[in-house]
Amino acid sequence: MIVLRGSGELGRLEALRENAPLVLVPTMGALHEGHLTLVRQAAVHGQVVVTIFVNPTQFGPGEDFAAYPRDLDEDLRLLAGTPTVAVFAPAVGDVYGRPGEVTVRAGRRAEGLCGALRPGHFDGVLTVVAKLFGMVRPSLALFGRKDAQQCLVLEQMVHDLRLPVRLLDVPTVREPDGLAMSSRNRYLDAGQRQRALCLARALAAGRACLADGQRATAAVEAAMRAELVAADSVDYAAVRLLPELEMTASIQDGRVLLAVAARVGPARLIDNLALRVERGAVMEAGLMGGGDAAGT
Ligand code: PAF
Repeated sequence: MIVLRGSGELGRLEALRENAPLVLVPTMGALHEGHLTLVRQAAVHGQVVVTIFVNPTQFGPGEDFAAYPRDLDEDLRLLAGTPTVAVFAPAVGDVYGRPGEVTVRAGRRAEGLCGALRPGHFDGVLTVVAKLFGMVRPSLALFGRKDAQQCLVLEQMVHDLRLPVRLLDVPTVREPDGLAMSSRNRYLDAGQRQRALCLARALAAGRACLADGQRATAAVEAAMRAELVAADSVDYAAVRLLPELEMTASIQDGRVLLAVAARVGPARLIDNLALRVERGAVMEAGLMGGGDAAGT
């Protein structure tokens, strides 16, 4: 595994590129089993390049940019036990140069949910991912399904900017009790960790409602919200149509996203579940590329 600490070293990827396609797993570090699953999945498709970069432009004022956990040595130790062939860990100055430089503005899929509550967040995500695509030039990039809106916003960027890269979303990795793995779980003490389970319970409640035949969005959202009483505050408990994230008053056959965001102690946590509703049956679905790859 080679470690590239600056953009000046990116030329070292060229020799690798000759062997097999490069597959990118972009991360902000603080790696956990969810990231390692992405890496293992990525290795099925080619040579894995992991980027580790805490991207300042996707954090808003008052968010946790300064506190975000950073431990490159530990991340490299974890990656050494995976099929990663290269790690790119640039400094801020390698990624962002002059004031007033070109940025990407997210499109319609970023308008609601986290996009509405974290202004500029998805612009920052798209800008950095576009830069990472430009620097690494992967054939394929993998993203976790927990960040569902991020996946969909990225898919729109790749489509609208005609970027020559394929995207794949990978199922959320959960702790045995259901908590979605997240670098921000490190902020939780034992009591908060227990209360954070309400996000996964909210998604399960929404899914159970749909499985019982409920098709009124308000009723499904109310069932989700009822589980979130254990959180300190709730940003949203929402049902949206996939892939465009439109609101709907009633749920027809097709794909829907159950989405929750809530604050527990110092952590703002999100969780998501993509479902396909079909003639009374409700099954897990994927997000990107038509959503067929439920268990990718
Ligand atoms: O999901 C993340 O960790 C980040 O948003 C990403 C995609 C690495 C961009 O900074």
